Amino acid sequence: MEEQAVHLIKAEGKERKTGYISIASGKGGVGKTLITVNAGKIISGQGKKVLIVDGDLGLSNVHIMLGITPAKNLYHFFMGEAAIEEIVTPIYDNLDFISSGSGIRELVNLPSLQLRNLILKLQEYAEKSYDWVIFDTPPGIHSDTLSIVSSSHIPVVITTPEPTAIADAYGLIKVLNHYEGVKSFYLLVNKTSNQKEGERVYESIRIVCERFTSAELKYLGSLRYDPRIIKNIINQNPFSEALTRELISALSLLPLNIRTPTPSFWERLLSRLRRS
Ligand SMILES: Nc1ncnc2c1ncn2[C@@H]1O[C@H](COP(=O)(O)OP(=O)(O)OP(=O)(O)O)[C@@H](O)[C@H]1O
Ligand SMILES: [Mg+2]
Repeated sequence: MEEQAVHLIKAEGKERKTGYISIASGKGGVGKTLITVNAGKIISGQGKKVLIVDGDLGLSNVHIMLGITPAKNLYHFFMGEAAIEEIVTPIYDNLDFISSGSGIRELVNLPSLQLRNLILKLQEYAEKSYDWVIFDTPPGIHSDTLSIVSSSHIPVVITTPEPTAIADAYGLIKVLNHYEGVKSFYLLVNKTSNQKEGERVYESIRIVCERFTSAELKYLGSLRYDPRIIKNIINQNPFSEALTRELISALSLLPLNIRTPTPSFWERLLSRLRRS
């Protein structure tokens, strides 16, 4: 493990410019995938090169929302059946996507050398080609979510005003804080009726975080519940104008101009995936 970390750091050598954003939630169905693809479109629309990665290594579903079926995905890359370039699907100018494919979780148990080389290839490709990589993650305290979120530079937690979603968002933050040492989170409240409702949700989570954890929670605002979104998604168009407006203001609060800190996202991800 020690040796792997050293190799990865050496391989970086040059100044890195890629930032990693993870979109996570305690409860499922709160809008992570919708927010991931819309955020990807907004950030790439501002001239940044963005890669969306479906971080659900068990049940991937970003491609369903995008209405595309990439022929090859991360599974094929891990199996040595596809080069990294073959699993990248362009969606728009500056916006690409890597689908996860099912069964990939088990491949994390590949022999050390093989896994390390694969992760290095992913790292080299991402850091050569993209300003930002956005990971959509599985809901809950799944070990893959914990690994991805705790390795990323910008962890965004999504909740809705539903009490169960609020409780689970807090649960996720607590676990990431206590067990993975994550200190700083961004909260985005989705499917609200008005701004006040979003603020109340944020306040309720912030208070318990302050009391029982060492996590700092920053508020990105809220996105209104809009029934047109569901209609659009049925027509395989996940990009909504109303959502875009609200999401732009939320994203403006993220430190998207930062030049990313060390250590490497991939180095941390590799050691965490191995541990789980
Ligand atoms: N602001 C919104 N207004 C109306 N519907 C929304 C909104 N945000 C998300 N939805 C709907 O909620 C459903 C769940 O969204 P999505 O699949 O993005 O959630 P998720 O958190 O990724 O779910 P999972 O945990 O299963 O991966 C979708 O049908 C989506 O259209
Ligand atoms: Mg999803």
